[in-house]
Amino acid sequence: MPHARTFRIAVIPGDGIGQEVTPCGVAVMARLAECSGGQLAFAFESFAWGCEFYKQTGRMMAEDGLDVLRAFDAIYFGAVGWPDVPDHVSLWGLRLAICQGFDQYACVRPVRLLPGVASPLRAADPAHFDWVVVRENSEGEYAGVGGRNFAGRGPQQEVAVQSALFTAKGCERIIRYAFELANARRKKVTSVTKSNAQQFGMTLWDESFARVAADYPGIETEHWLVDAMAARFVLRPDTLDVVVASNLFGDILSDLGSALAGSMGIAASANIDPERRFPSMFEPVHGSAPDIAGQGIANPIAAVWSAALMLDHLGLASEAARVVAAIERATASGQVTPDLGGSCSTLQATEAIIAAL
Ligand code: NAI
Ligand code: MG
Repeated sequence: MPHARTFRIAVIPGDGIGQEVTPCGVAVMARLAECSGGQLAFAFESFAWGCEFYKQTGRMMAEDGLDVLRAFDAIYFGAVGWPDVPDHVSLWGLRLAICQGFDQYACVRPVRLLPGVASPLRAADPAHFDWVVVRENSEGEYAGVGGRNFAGRGPQQEVAVQSALFTAKGCERIIRYAFELANARRKKVTSVTKSNAQQFGMTLWDESFARVAADYPGIETEHWLVDAMAARFVLRPDTLDVVVASNLFGDILSDLGSALAGSMGIAASANIDPERRFPSMFEPVHGSAPDIAGQGIANPIAAVWSAALMLDHLGLASEAARVVAAIERATASGQVTPDLGGSCSTLQATEAIIAAL
């Protein structure tokens, strides 16, 4: 029987535990396709880009990498970075090259406490622990604007400038994305800045926020400074719904959120081009974790949940919900890896999710 629809997925496992957890997400998606009675199929194509590739070729990805990826429906990514390659080389050469090249300006990172998982917060319970960080993913502090000079003047004379870049268009489009997301959730958007200290870029952000908010009268809005928001993540996480922030602030807050939800090993992430001009990319929040790589104990949940975000983006909302429900059943039954207090290997934890599907 011909498949109703085949989705072409580019898989880039990358480095370290990226290579261990991406096959888990692929296995879960393959199982979904098997169960679909011919309604659904995935054509996975894997690319061996990353630090090993860099050591052989001097590049983190093939020279025509973006052109190759453009033909896919989505990109499923592991992690990039290894101790023998400078982190700014590996990150800019692969992950940021794809995010920026494909203008994936919305980085969406759900934070939820899964059943059976212990949060380091005493009072946290899954019913009131559910928010999304929407991180601006194309400019801000990670625009890559700046330079270094004067090294020739002698030791300790070098200067570096690293500029944050905020455009009215860039602010407006990510804020609008956050409002649209809030519309489908609990109808609250919190804008996070530091516009008292960063009086140029972040006031432009604030003005964009006010302009967009006027288009959504049904949505409650708030403004918080990032330092106070760090405390609020810990003290009142139950009051959060959609949190929209600049590239750097969203990056930091989403790691804080994943730690509060129990582990870096469960935090999922989507790098989305909401206008669908380019393929979007789905990846765990965590990195390549050299400290545990090769031991077979990496938590696969972040990667599998990221696959669920990809399914949702591809219009497969019920399949995405099934995957998340299967993750919840696996955590509730305690079949989890050591970072969550369990004794499962990566493979066993994945098998538990697949069995629950
Ligand atoms: P990391 O996220 O790789 O690890 C931080 C800590 O969390 C480690 O103790 C690690 O063992 C633990 N951890 C992470 N994922 C886990 C999982 N699935 N299961 C169990 N434990 C897990 O961050 P780190 O150590 O700062 O960076 C390592 C490398 O990864 C660096 O080269 C860095 O540049 C890169 N990196 C890449 C990212 C990406 O590709 N998106 C994001 C963050 C870091
Ligand atoms: Mg990060």
